[in-house]
Amino acid sequence: FQPKVLQGRKLLITAGPTFEPIDPVRGITNHSSGKMGFAMARAAAEAGAEVTLVAGPVHLPTPRGVRRVNVTTAQQMFDAVLPQAAAHDVFVATAAVADWRPASLSAQKIKKEGDKKATPTFELTENPDILAAVAGLPQPPFCVGFAAESENLLEHARSKLVRKKLPMIVGNLGPATFGKDDNALLVIDAQRHYPLPADGSSADKLTLARQLMADLAQRL
Ligand code: C5P
Repeated sequence: FQPKVLQGRKLLITAGPTFEPIDPVRGITNHSSGKMGFAMARAAAEAGAEVTLVAGPVHLPTPRGVRRVNVTTAQQMFDAVLPQAAAHDVFVATAAVADWRPASLSAQKIKKEGDKKATPTFELTENPDILAAVAGLPQPPFCVGFAAESENLLEHARSKLVRKKLPMIVGNLGPATFGKDDNALLVIDAQRHYPLPADGSSADKLTLARQLMADLAQRL
C-alpha cells in the first residue's frame, strides 16, 4: 500500500535515451534502458499524482494511469516538454539525453563503397539542455535532475545542481546502472547529501523510485 502523498500534484517525467539520426539507418544513442524513469512514473502515479511521461525509444510498458508521449530525438523531447512544463508541479529529468547530434542528417544511407572511399567524419552540434531550460523558466516546477558519472559523483552532481539551478539532484552510485534492475542513489540538495537506500545498500529501481517520491512529497 502506498500512501497518496502526491495526490493533486502534476508530475512531468522524462525517461530513456534519445536517438540522434545520422542517416536513415544509423544514429547516436546510449545504453539508457528507461527503467528508472518508468519506475519513477509508476511510483508517482501510485502516490496519487497526475503523471506525464515523455519517453525516448525504449521497449517498456506504460505504467498504469500514466499519460505517455513518445519521442526519438533530444529536440523532440525538448519540444514535448517545454510548452507544458510550467503547468506541472514537478519535473523529473531521468532521461539520458544525447548531448550532441550530427550537425546534418544525410537523406540517403552513407555508403562504404563511395567514390572517395574515405572514412566519413561527422560534425556534431549541441542539443538543447531540457532540464536547464525548464529550471530557467520564470516560474519553474520543482526540478529534479539525475546524474550518471563515471567518477567524482558528488563533485560533478553538485556543480550540476548549481549550474542548472536545481533544488535537488539524484546521483547514480552504481558504476553501471544502465539496464540493471538494482541501483544505489545519492540524493543531493543545497544543504546535504545522503544515500538511498538510507543504509547505503542497493535496491530495485521501483523501491528507490517510491522512496524518492516520499522524499519529494516532503519538499513540496
Ligand atoms: O549535464 P548532464 O547531461 O550530465 O545532466 C544530467 C541531467 O540533465 C539529467 O537529469 C538529464 O535528464 C538532464 N538533461 C536534459 N537535457 C540535456 C542533457 C541533460 O534534460 N540535453
